[in-house]
Amino acid sequence: MNESMIAEAGLCRAELTLEQFRNDVLAGLTRQKKSVPCKYLYDEEGARLFEAICEVEEYYPTRTEVKILQRNIREIAAWIGANANLVELGSGASTKTRLLLDHLDHPVSYVPIDVARTQLLECSARLAQEHPELEVVPVCADYTNDFSMPNVLAPSARTVIFFPGSTIGNFEPEEAEHFLRRMTKLCCREGGLLLGIDLKKDSGVLNSAYNDARGVTAEFNLNLLARVNGELGADFDISCFRHYAFYNEEMGRIEMHLISRKPQVVSIADEEFSFERGESILTEHSYKYTLDEFRERAARAGVHVARRWVDENRWFSVQLLMPQSYKACFQV
Ligand code: AVJ
Repeated sequence: MNESMIAEAGLCRAELTLEQFRNDVLAGLTRQKKSVPCKYLYDEEGARLFEAICEVEEYYPTRTEVKILQRNIREIAAWIGANANLVELGSGASTKTRLLLDHLDHPVSYVPIDVARTQLLECSARLAQEHPELEVVPVCADYTNDFSMPNVLAPSARTVIFFPGSTIGNFEPEEAEHFLRRMTKLCCREGGLLLGIDLKKDSGVLNSAYNDARGVTAEFNLNLLARVNGELGADFDISCFRHYAFYNEEMGRIEMHLISRKPQVVSIADEEFSFERGESILTEHSYKYTLDEFRERAARAGVHVARRWVDENRWFSVQLLMPQSYKACFQV
């Protein structure tokens, strides 16, 4: 498969439209506590900046997760078994997927799902080239909304949904439960989920992970305003906002905000939004779990933690989840 074939095959069943972006931004900024859904952080520039975050010293999740995967890859591959259909949510640059694909026993298909279209298509093309036997079916979709699985031609033994990076932390805990339920139905019966979960830890470690010294996370956060300017014709003066992220101990989550440095009025299309000095736009939540909290959350969703691994610091965990019973696959 070459790049243009994949681009044509790219199924955009739930692609985020400009109109939806506008609606979500306008609605979010109309709220008393202003917010914008975090999925909008990932335009092409945002996707590039996120890859850069994964490389910074302070941001431990990526390298910790990769280390856990590397150390346990044989066991993980054995569990996934032969002839699997691998689905990845928020596939980004598909870096961790390579590790899996290199160790799996004859994976038959790979379905990367992401909102960042160009990155999705480029990475899919490259992976398809590296794995000529693999059917690669990229889906440009927002997996936080309902989406349907594309038709994969190759018959597979089971579907395994790979959701690394602790992105499940972006959901509110109740939403995460609902999401697990939905995913269980998608990978039903023989299948399962391979999840990355960031764990509760010393708040100093958490705070620096989201406030790196080089300011890459700040750039990533502020890029949202540049995107709103570029795509929605807004007039945010980016220098009049600053990045602010902190661990909210009580809520068990990192909050990422953009703080207005002064009183100001910003227009987006023909609407105006005023900001007080110090007022914030919430741009992301990133919930952290203890192993017990997550197990209980999963159990409420009818999902059983079949196996889990942590690093030596107990900072991050990779877990294999399975439907508790076949019945769970049919429950709503
Ligand atoms: C991709 C959602 C897992 O919450 O750690 C990194 C995004 N935001 N630095 C996270 C992010 C700021 C990241 N996730």
